[in-house]
Amino acid sequence: MDTDFGFDDLWALLILKTRDVAPAGVSLVAGNAPFSQVTANALGANLAYGLSLPLFVGADRPLVREAETATAILGPKGMRSLGQELPEVPSDADLPPALPALINWLESAREGETRDILALGPLTNIARLIEVAPEAAAKITRLVWMGGSNGPGNHTPHAEYNAFADPEAVSIVAQSGLPFDVIDLTLCRKVQFTAADCPSCDQLTADLLGGYLQIAQERGRESMSIYDPVAAFAHLDPASFVFLPAHMHVTTERGSHYGATHFDPTSTSRTRLATAAPADLSGQCLGALSQDRNHGH
Ligand code: RIB
Ligand code: CA
Repeated sequence: MDTDFGFDDLWALLILKTRDVAPAGVSLVAGNAPFSQVTANALGANLAYGLSLPLFVGADRPLVREAETATAILGPKGMRSLGQELPEVPSDADLPPALPALINWLESAREGETRDILALGPLTNIARLIEVAPEAAAKITRLVWMGGSNGPGNHTPHAEYNAFADPEAVSIVAQSGLPFDVIDLTLCRKVQFTAADCPSCDQLTADLLGGYLQIAQERGRESMSIYDPVAAFAHLDPASFVFLPAHMHVTTERGSHYGATHFDPTSTSRTRLATAAPADLSGQCLGALSQDRNHGH
């Protein structure tokens, strides 16, 4: 997994946990919050939820552009809360670097073994991998990414956050020819929940989920979209989604459309845009947070 460790990234990890899927590694990337805070969130989540995630230090800034966090919306931690927060873990320990670990993991693939990546933040780490070690990157069997929009944006009128935070990285990945499944904002906006849908959770999870829902409530909306958990299910249950092969283009010219993505259906493309998700997906996402599922906390 590759993540900028906001709350919905953590939520995606908790979904994997309910399926007993343990990531071989988790590469961190600057995004929702500055890199030091992304690392703090990952360490705190490991402790609070007993995740034992092997964490790796990825890119602390985008490839070309200046850093763009989402802290104006998500708060200084890139993760809001109504009360309890992730524990602060004093860490002097140096986490290992992500790129060599990714390269080793890919190169160690034996015949027939999968090497799937679930990417939930800006694509900086994956683009660097493609640039530095294209032969290793070619061993990726499936890259599922929450990002881009086949419609309006959320961070700007035209751009989704993960795409806007590193458009040059999106461009490199889109042109790489890797098997690339895009779970875009338009699809995620169809997967929503309200306060009435929230399951009975432990206090920390309830406060973090409430903080996430508050993003919509503060804007006068009753329901909040679910992003990264939708990509987690696309990773786990691809057959329950509809995918359209398409060429993806991202605007890398600075201006009002910087970071905007555009999809042209192309039957031969190895990029696929997810266009439909299971009808009960919101309930499936929320179910993974319910008290009886979160044994680690
Ligand atoms: O646009 C949604 C994406 O940006 C998600 O990955 C979420 O974590 C947010 O910050
Ligand atoms: Ca994310």
